[in-house]
Amino acid sequence: MSAEPKKLFIKTYGCQMNVYDSDKMSDILAPLGYEQSDIPDDADLVILNTCHIREKAAEKVYSELGRIRPIKEDRLRKGKPALVAVAGCVAQAEGEEMVRRAPVVDLVFGPQTYHNLPALLERVAKNGSGVVETEFPAEDKFAHLEAPSAARTIARGVTAFLTIQEGCDKFCSFCVVPYTRGAEFSRSVEQITTEARKLAASGVREVTLLGQNVNAYHGIGPDGGSWSLGRLLNHLSEIDGIARLRYTTSHPRDMDEELISAHRENPKVMPYLHLPVQSGSDRILKAMNRQHTAQFYFDMVDRIRAARDDIALSCDFIVGFPGETDADFEATMDLIRHVNYAQAFSFKYSPRPGTPGADLGDQVPEEVKSERLYRLQALLREQQIAFNKHCVGLELPVLLEKPGRFEGQLVGRSPYLQPVHLDAEITQVGEIVTAAIVSVGANSLSAHIVSN
Ligand code: 5AD
Ligand code: SF4
Repeated sequence: MSAEPKKLFIKTYGCQMNVYDSDKMSDILAPLGYEQSDIPDDADLVILNTCHIREKAAEKVYSELGRIRPIKEDRLRKGKPALVAVAGCVAQAEGEEMVRRAPVVDLVFGPQTYHNLPALLERVAKNGSGVVETEFPAEDKFAHLEAPSAARTIARGVTAFLTIQEGCDKFCSFCVVPYTRGAEFSRSVEQITTEARKLAASGVREVTLLGQNVNAYHGIGPDGGSWSLGRLLNHLSEIDGIARLRYTTSHPRDMDEELISAHRENPKVMPYLHLPVQSGSDRILKAMNRQHTAQFYFDMVDRIRAARDDIALSCDFIVGFPGETDADFEATMDLIRHVNYAQAFSFKYSPRPGTPGADLGDQVPEEVKSERLYRLQALLREQQIAFNKHCVGLELPVLLEKPGRFEGQLVGRSPYLQPVHLDAEITQVGEIVTAAIVSVGANSLSAHIVSN
């Protein structure tokens, strides 16, 4: 199918799944003639792919829409009308409210409706603006979202995201995901394998499997049974060309023996694990409905490290959940000291409308949250620097990804997801080289190639 060339501008907020979804939207619009643009000014269609996980997310989207309005009006005066669409979790949460508050918006559509985007645009063309689609359709949206063409994949580089699972049934009391992304759903092994094969055939060397609860994966396998993530990883590792596999985000309760064994036995499964704990206090973990204790987490970390002792752990923390005392916070600091992280993300608790946490009394004052976050981040930063420093002198396999800042330089990734700068030829992108780590910067390593 070919059509008049049109410009598409997508702004992506939030998590890696949104990055994947934005690429899918762009892929599904390509046959309608849409080419991607880096600026909203020349776009015939602007999509804001939004995130609702924390603070003032909706407000940020409304102010971005305020900036887009004059661009749209200006284009209209010049006889080049533009459409404005809002996708993602804010769209899901706000729905009709969005078109009421921001009439600049022509289309609001939730994460489970992306495969219907061409039809939704047709509805706007026919009925005018104000179309809102936030249903959770019964059909499998992934069945309608094709893997991208080889040319589009090549343009995106040698690493790729692949969503294998979506939604969440855990209902942590601070989190909007079960409401915006819906119930947990796993794609079939066959669908995932087909997509991974296409990625590999287009030069992708590293695939990161995505899911809000990725290790709760339980998709249907070719044998008709339900497959775990560990089994899926082993299966995907057999695809020619795929050298590295990663997955994110995991829940401690869903780390099963098959997955831990994959880390022990399968060299393509990278020794890096993002395993959020959120808090180190059992009282707060209970209030958060995390369904595990700090001790459970410690034991899990021990099991994982026994399987792969060089594994780098990463985490998410929330400070200032309602009712968090100094002692609760200190328990989190103790947990961090005990586990020792290579990397971590940390946030002040932000009450999300509609979640149980938002209705709890005893909200922690803002200045207390800020002070705790500051101390927590200082400790995590110390651990990250120590982890990076311990890599100096090691020889690590590095996947060369893209040009670096300087001529003759490339940036790659270590197994532990650290960016590594080294001198190499552009033609080497996609190769895995052995690199001697010589120094550490703020967030990256410098190295030289020992062998190709
Ligand atoms: N407030 C602060 N942080 C949150 N997260 C999720 N919901 C909230 C919230 N209401 C954090 C958690 C989660 C990460 C993706 O975002 O740490 O693991
Ligand atoms: Fe949110 Fe908890 Fe589900 Fe993670 S496990 S997506 S934090 S509800």
